[in-house]
Amino acid sequence: MSKQEDFGLAYLDSCDRMVLLLIHGFPFHSGMWEVQIEEVGDVARIIAPDLRGFGRSDATPAPYSVGMFAEDCANLLDHLGIEGPVIVGGLSMGGYVALEFYRRYPERVAGLVLAATRAGADSAEGKAGRDRMAELVRTQGTTAVAEAMLPKLLAPQNYEEQPDVVEFVKGLMAEASAEGVVGALMAMRDRPDSTPMLADIDVPVLIIHGADDQLIPVREAEAMYDVIPDAELVVVSDAGHLPNLENVDEFNDALIDFVESFYDEE
Ligand code: MLT
Repeated sequence: MSKQEDFGLAYLDSCDRMVLLLIHGFPFHSGMWEVQIEEVGDVARIIAPDLRGFGRSDATPAPYSVGMFAEDCANLLDHLGIEGPVIVGGLSMGGYVALEFYRRYPERVAGLVLAATRAGADSAEGKAGRDRMAELVRTQGTTAVAEAMLPKLLAPQNYEEQPDVVEFVKGLMAEASAEGVVGALMAMRDRPDSTPMLADIDVPVLIIHGADDQLIPVREAEAMYDVIPDAELVVVSDAGHLPNLENVDEFNDALIDFVESFYDEE
């Protein structure tokens, strides 16, 4: 019989990095983070969910809400055994979900990345626009949304200068399901105003925004920066609403610096 002795067992684990949850925008899926997974994936353990109704996730019947999306993300972290705290990032609609995640589970958040997003709720006009868009999807399908959004997604110059990105974005949008698109439109229409919460955010926040964003003007990012106590603002040049795709280097450098600042604190 051999005698068991206490000893230190060493092991390698490629996922011993800070978790970075990256939540996609509308009407995309986790594939929009491909280049971040490639280039930032060795600095952080990136987990990028497909929100319900998008990508490879199932669609469920309406209604959807940003609260439901945030809860789905928390459930995913539970499923992976990640109690946190983690860095939660989101682009545009993903940013709405990241703010909602913070509202619900502040103890699970080490930092926030708010990309191409805003804190405010939809105006009455904005809500009416969501309803019109949902009706368009019901009558004409998701291509109507893609056609309406495409001209505003990128910085004007990038439609000519970055044809690969244009094609990539078209491809992402073509994969969206009608149920997911309508559900997300209603979720965005009814999302709460996160502005009153901004001054109480007590984790570091990276606000990152394309200088030429035609959908959410850069002043929305500046407004969040003015109020959030521990915020950094990076305005990405030559980029519109999808700075993670239009100017990968500037976006990824900012993301890497932000993630590394958590290791510096250890
Ligand atoms: C997005 O990019 O996620 C959406 O354009 C956000 C919005 O419509 O408010």
